[in-house]
Amino acid sequence: MQGLIAPHGGTLVNRLATGAKADKLRAEAAGLKKVALSPKQSCDLEMITIGAFSPLEGFMGKADFERVCREMKLADGTLWPIPILLAMKKEAAPAVGERVALMAPNGVPQAVMTVTEVFAHNKDLEIPAVFRTSDPAHPGVKQVMEEGDVCVGGPVESLEVCVDPKGPEAFLEHRLTPAQTREQFARKGWKTVCAFQTRNPIHRAHEYLCKVAQEICDGLLIHPLVGETKEGDIPAAVRMDCYKVLIEKYFVPERTMLSVMPAAMRYAGPREAVLHSIVRKNYGCNHFIVGRDHAGVGNYYGTYDAQTIFDDLAPDALGMTILKFEHSAYSKLAQGMVTSKSFPKIEGDQVALSGTKVREMLAAGERPPMEFTRPEVADVLIRWARGK
Ligand code: ADX
Repeated sequence: MQGLIAPHGGTLVNRLATGAKADKLRAEAAGLKKVALSPKQSCDLEMITIGAFSPLEGFMGKADFERVCREMKLADGTLWPIPILLAMKKEAAPAVGERVALMAPNGVPQAVMTVTEVFAHNKDLEIPAVFRTSDPAHPGVKQVMEEGDVCVGGPVESLEVCVDPKGPEAFLEHRLTPAQTREQFARKGWKTVCAFQTRNPIHRAHEYLCKVAQEICDGLLIHPLVGETKEGDIPAAVRMDCYKVLIEKYFVPERTMLSVMPAAMRYAGPREAVLHSIVRKNYGCNHFIVGRDHAGVGNYYGTYDAQTIFDDLAPDALGMTILKFEHSAYSKLAQGMVTSKSFPKIEGDQVALSGTKVREMLAAGERPPMEFTRPEVADVLIRWARGK
């Protein structure tokens, strides 16, 4: 019987120490040099720990970094689009061979790392390759520019999965690891599973893509990114409330699962779409939705650049089915969601609202129209906007 899709690179990584090993590691960490992680690095570390970034077992070394930038491949040839780096100030860098304690932003020891490499952070290589721009106004570019000039590579042994389990954005009930989603899919008897990445509340267009995917897959994993996002994005806790009210009323429970992905957003458009798909493969999904301007920001990427990037991948490099969707919107004439593939474009027919317009409406206490957002989701958003 055919099982779930194999993890990227073949083996699901698990870097979490448990039991006596964890006790020993914790005691060792207390005496080691401390390296303070940024929120993005802490998110990356959690993704490595749980195997969401399989086959990575730690932060990248130079050979992986350079080949990822130049060819979207790890040094061994495995597809990988975005460097996963531990960058820091030169003065803070440990020596090769040293073991260091990686400290989460809230001061919790998150992992112990064995330093195998220290190398220059070649931002001139990384930034244009990953972001297709060097504009410091791009939030991902700005972040890399502000990072340290030295990178430290090596495997990690982690002490924690979620470093702030009591925090408002822990979502422990929904923070399933790839091993756990795989187990759930198997239990439900799902063989074909489609993942939906999002960093926004689910509006009608998002819902439409999910519904189309559900018609052809056994199950749908609604998989919001809850790691670091940019200023101005809607907080993960508010989005979670939106997802729950939406799923309760508008989705079939036996066919829908909600779980969170603790990754940080990079806003790298096409390359991030590839990373998002690889990660979902690790979670056990063999289909992945890529709509218009996936993981984009501003006008840095063409509407469908995050789809065409998949066309250039070697066959079998990914091994998943990418469900590519045109821009979708509510048509008053069709009385439903359409794309340019399914309904003629007629002036004034489609209800399309920009994110800015929606935020303005919410701030004014106005309800976005039901053609754009389900009323239950609008209620959650209005409550949040009023409370701000
Ligand atoms: S993203 O940064 O996670 O891509 P968002 O949460 O807005 O942002 O989008 C989630 C997914 O829905 C992405 O695949 C995106 O391309 C897709 N998408 C969002 N809005 C639309 C739309 N109106 N039509 C088609 N696809 C869309």
